[in-house]
Amino acid sequence: MYKFKREEYEKRITWFKEARFGLFIHWGLYAIPSRGEWLRSDERVKAEDYEHYMDDFTAERCDPREWVRLAKQAGMRYAVLTTKHHDGFCLFDSKLTDFTSMHAPAHRDIVREFTDACREEGLKVGLYYSLLDWHHPDYPHQDDMLHPMRGNADYPDDGRDWNRYLEYMHGQIKELMTNYGKIDLLFLDYSYGEMKGEKWKAQELVTMIRTLQPGILINNRLEVGGVGYGSLVTRKPLPWHGDYVTPEQIIPPNGIQDEDGRPVLWESCVTINRHWGHCEKDPFSKSSKTLVRKLVECVSKGGNMILNIGPDAYGGVTKVQREVLEGIGRWMAANSKSIYGCGNAFIPKPEYGRYTKNGSRYYFHVLETPVGAVPITGIDRKKIKDVRLLSTGTVVPIVSHFTYSDYPDVTFADLGPMAELPDDIDTVLEIRTTEE
Ligand code: GLC
Repeated sequence: MYKFKREEYEKRITWFKEARFGLFIHWGLYAIPSRGEWLRSDERVKAEDYEHYMDDFTAERCDPREWVRLAKQAGMRYAVLTTKHHDGFCLFDSKLTDFTSMHAPAHRDIVREFTDACREEGLKVGLYYSLLDWHHPDYPHQDDMLHPMRGNADYPDDGRDWNRYLEYMHGQIKELMTNYGKIDLLFLDYSYGEMKGEKWKAQELVTMIRTLQPGILINNRLEVGGVGYGSLVTRKPLPWHGDYVTPEQIIPPNGIQDEDGRPVLWESCVTINRHWGHCEKDPFSKSSKTLVRKLVECVSKGGNMILNIGPDAYGGVTKVQREVLEGIGRWMAANSKSIYGCGNAFIPKPEYGRYTKNGSRYYFHVLETPVGAVPITGIDRKKIKDVRLLSTGTVVPIVSHFTYSDYPDVTFADLGPMAELPDDIDTVLEIRTTEE
């Protein structure tokens, strides 16, 4: 049986802390009605009024290689695809059900294509799997908190065999851990009410997963949902602890620490608009500028960010989502050194932006145009060797103009006679120090 060992844990999270930035892909039947992946629960849709979309699931514009290339160009180092969401429809060739993309007109194993594409493009492979299943007859209906048929007397729970459901759920996860090569990350989703921990037979499940995929990262949602940290922050993490915490649609204001004040690994999961699954009526997309700044904020607080796309009914990436990823990629192409392998600088946040740090190098993300030279605060002036504009590598002179002499604790870096910052998304100064 698996048990938490800190040394092993610290080793297996190394790539994730280095990567800092990933792509989430939510795709399934829900993209056809295009009202988000919670459609069935939100609108109490009966199975027979939803599952017929399977007949239209052609995946005719679905190209997982394109999804992965867009991620790579955006500077993302890992990608996570929904293999089965709460609706129970599988994007992989499961032998435990016919409710899959192999039995739809698409007749494709999308998960296979996705995992192959990740490896060919050099991205780490992540799979999302929903612990909930609104399609499976043995999953609680009437008495469940979330099921589309909750409270509906026409869907009593008599005769539903919970252990038979667990056999199915564990069996599908075993298929995913066995048939698709090395899996680097498993995003399970999610625990709620009494549905947590050993209700999922979590100890047995995690032992199976970690036996089949040594070194895999598992998130914290066998214990919690998008809220709550789980036992990773305690002195004795449970066997089914998450390897990282998963704040959802929020960036923890002060990062996340354990009971002893040590930083804990976390990843904010964020959507471009307000939905995970495709939603035609949701035009409220964040800009590349905003999302770059949110990524910087996550890293400055010691966390990762995974950004979601929801492909359309045919599996195509929408114009808006493509443009957002391309905009992020342009910034990352010039500034990714201030993201990869970086973390919290543990000095006070500078007034004009944020710091990230990697070893002896601080990265000052200047988000607001100063009057005159850029004031570098919180770093001992005697330790600063020099300052570079990260995007070009050019040295930015440190100035001691008489007007600055009243502020001896502050180092002033002069970007020259600019009226505005060179990059209005985020102008990054690399501050090289003598720190070890
Ligand atoms: C929440 C949503 C689910 C989504 C997940 C992503 O659990 O309910 O639809 O897949 O967040 O983190």
